[in-house]
Amino acid sequence: MQSFYSKQPNFHPKTIPCVLGIETSCDETGIALYHGQKGLIAHSLYSQIELHNLYGGVVPELASRDHILKILPLLQETLTVANLTLSAINGIAYCAGPGLAGALLVGAAFGRSLGWALGIPTLGVHHMEAHLLAPMLEEHVPDFPFIALLVSGGHTLLAQVNGIGDYKILGVSLDDAVGEAFDKTAKLLGLNYPGGPAIAALAEQGQAKQYAFPRPMVNRPDCNFSFSGLKTFVSTTLKNSDQAEQTKANIAHEFQAAVADTLVIKAMRALKQTGLRRLVVAGGVAANTWLRKELANMAATHNFTLYYPRPSFCTDNGAMIAYLGYRRLNLGQSDNLGIKTIARYPLDQLD
Ligand code: KG4
Ligand code: ZN
Repeated sequence: MQSFYSKQPNFHPKTIPCVLGIETSCDETGIALYHGQKGLIAHSLYSQIELHNLYGGVVPELASRDHILKILPLLQETLTVANLTLSAINGIAYCAGPGLAGALLVGAAFGRSLGWALGIPTLGVHHMEAHLLAPMLEEHVPDFPFIALLVSGGHTLLAQVNGIGDYKILGVSLDDAVGEAFDKTAKLLGLNYPGGPAIAALAEQGQAKQYAFPRPMVNRPDCNFSFSGLKTFVSTTLKNSDQAEQTKANIAHEFQAAVADTLVIKAMRALKQTGLRRLVVAGGVAANTWLRKELANMAATHNFTLYYPRPSFCTDNGAMIAYLGYRRLNLGQSDNLGIKTIARYPLDQLD
């Protein structure tokens, strides 16, 4: 297997103060500038949600085309907000994967070419690694080692994080990712894409404990997950109901509660098995208020500390790419002139 980060010798000076981050792996175009001393200088995001809403999910070809339209104006906007020009950028990081191949290619071709034109080190970085380190952009920063619960549209995993690039996977979803389960369940309930925020909003109108949803795989001793059964449970429950709006809200409430309980139980297990007391929660689903409340209750009872990115940095953004790029470029890593995209790559096989 091709390695994600090449192990070539350093060919750039170790200090790269200001890094441009570019995210185009799915349906958000994100651009940001991260500076070693000043922190996050500026960031801009364009979400394609409205574009894909019509189709009930992300249409890859439309996503790529829209990134092409938005990437340059967003870069200009970010520089304007920061009151900087391109000459202030010392390094470039773009998201090289995992993600949609065509969407990744836009950010990768743009980032690698801009890096070449400016004559500065450029690095394609890993999307999930960027999510995992996003809490480092906040004031409340975790020390290594910690447990990370990564919950996004494409991935669900628990990992022990010992340092940059040192990740041990403790558990993964054996079927649907948790965000995917939210999205599919939302569709069943007649809600718009993305399903997570739509279900969270509907669940607020729901009454608790009207249905007995299962907590999948919690009786197994490991840290793996399974969410496709919950989606099926929603489908059956809905079919056998009056399908009224209140009924849908009650179902949304219990679905969300079942997902949150399952995540909390497995995260607790990972903390217990490793003896660690720091839990980072990142990825789109980490923006979920109900999940945060349940985790906070558990943290208070069991005496561990929680770390999150702010909700807007839980979902895809350029800031997390710029931060990861800053860290890795300053370890001396950069890519050759190849434009790198890797649609799938396991997190625990990075350097
Ligand atoms: O991390 P992300 O932006 O993209 C991926 O890397 O996949 O995650 C998107 C996922 C979607 O499935 C979306 O429904 C879910 O995160 N999501 C949420 C919330 N906000 C976004 N799920 C539950 N509650 C939310 N508030
Ligand atoms: Zn993501």
